[in-house]
Amino acid sequence: MNAELSYNNKKTELKVLEGSNGETAIDITKLRNETGLITYDPGYQNTGSCQSAITFIDGEKGILRYRGIPVEKLAEKSTFIEVSYLLIYGKLPNREERAQYSQQLSINALLHEDMLHYLENIPPTAHPMTLLSNMVNSLSVYYPGFYVENYDNATFHLMAARLISKIRTMAAFCYKKSIGEPFVYAREDLLYVQNFLNMMFSSPVKSYELDPDIIRTLEVLLILHADHEQNCSTSTVRLVGSSKVNLYSSICAGICALWGPLHGGANQKVIEMLESIQKSSLSPKDCIERAKSKDNPFRLMGFGHRVYRNYDPRAKILKAYCTKLFKKMKTNDPLLEIAMQLEELALSDDYFIERKLYPNVDFYSGILYRTIGIPTNMFTVMFAMGRMPGWIAHWREMHDSLPFKIGRPRQIYTGSPLSEYVPIEKRT
Ligand code: SDX
Repeated sequence: MNAELSYNNKKTELKVLEGSNGETAIDITKLRNETGLITYDPGYQNTGSCQSAITFIDGEKGILRYRGIPVEKLAEKSTFIEVSYLLIYGKLPNREERAQYSQQLSINALLHEDMLHYLENIPPTAHPMTLLSNMVNSLSVYYPGFYVENYDNATFHLMAARLISKIRTMAAFCYKKSIGEPFVYAREDLLYVQNFLNMMFSSPVKSYELDPDIIRTLEVLLILHADHEQNCSTSTVRLVGSSKVNLYSSICAGICALWGPLHGGANQKVIEMLESIQKSSLSPKDCIERAKSKDNPFRLMGFGHRVYRNYDPRAKILKAYCTKLFKKMKTNDPLLEIAMQLEELALSDDYFIERKLYPNVDFYSGILYRTIGIPTNMFTVMFAMGRMPGWIAHWREMHDSLPFKIGRPRQIYTGSPLSEYVPIEKRT
């Protein structure tokens, strides 16, 4: 199947690519050579940057699948470690593979002791996302020897295991640093999520009781954040990685992109928004009106999505977990009440309906993190922990794809025409 471009009295045939689920794209790899034209698409709303077999999203139908498996099924039956393996290696691990992978994560849970000196000298008020990006990038200092030229499977497996295991330790140590408590090290007898919770909430003077419902809730939160095709941070990992810089620096760039309030930073902004509504005299109705007003910069954080023009399937699962966890813990968070009122109002308001704005993954995730006891400024760190396997999987898929191309978009120049250099004495 081809598309035909008619321009400047010339017809140009362009190949149409079709994905395994029927999405189609015009292949413009030869467009400039054949027509002198480039395309223009700010925000890449209509532009595919690559072909990928990792994650499939159907935004109109609210579908999300990792390597073909619906995320609802993985949230119900799998674990974050299994999903990490699935995304990176393309299949669910068998018993032996899962045991080996789990073992590799366990032996890579520690941080280089010299890295802790960095943490000790940072102000306790530093945002954990700054600490996280710095520590991930410094892995190439403490664990040198990996650059893309040495790209072989054994090296890659070790890098991937280090990142997935150590980001959990880094997150817990950032939290301990912020509350002035001593670091709690990972334990060999605990699984991934249990270890994280223990490193976060136990201390030399108080043990932490591992509640199976809290463990499962956090497992599902990480699974639901594990990948989301070419989102801003994953595209950043691919773009930075396309210069053939090492994996750690590529992931560091992704962490920085994720921090933005329009992307992964939204989960922190949702809670801050709900808390400000709770403290103010504003009703949820007032907030909906503000969100609709062009004169007001206020947006309904956690609402809207570049791809989903239907309910984000992850938000649906997390909303159910809010109800389930509150029932089990016999708690009732007023912020959930406000969130549900905002959702009900927005879903019946023409402004949101016309623009197909629905709750996204960030709308309910913060309420669950808060219930588990994770502080608001750690929410995006939790997002990064979940997204780590997705970033790694895309970095590897890009390096395995041929022809390997450095990412370098074009532009439409709108600046000055050819100009003279004016010596300072003649300038006005
Ligand atoms: C994530 O890409 C991914 O996959 C991301 C993610 C992942 O897993 O990686 O899913 C995670 O980042 C989720 C999104 C988290 N961000 C937020 O919740 C921030 C609030 N949302 C918006 O800023 C916005 O919806 C975006 C950034 C998510 C999407 O922006 P787009 O696609 O560029 O849409 P847009 O800004 O062009 O908005 C289209 C219209 C505009 O109105 P009009 O100019 O047409 O009149 O919808 C309006 C916008 O003003 N709009 C909103 C709104 N989001 C969009 N109005 C009020 N509140 C909002 N939240």
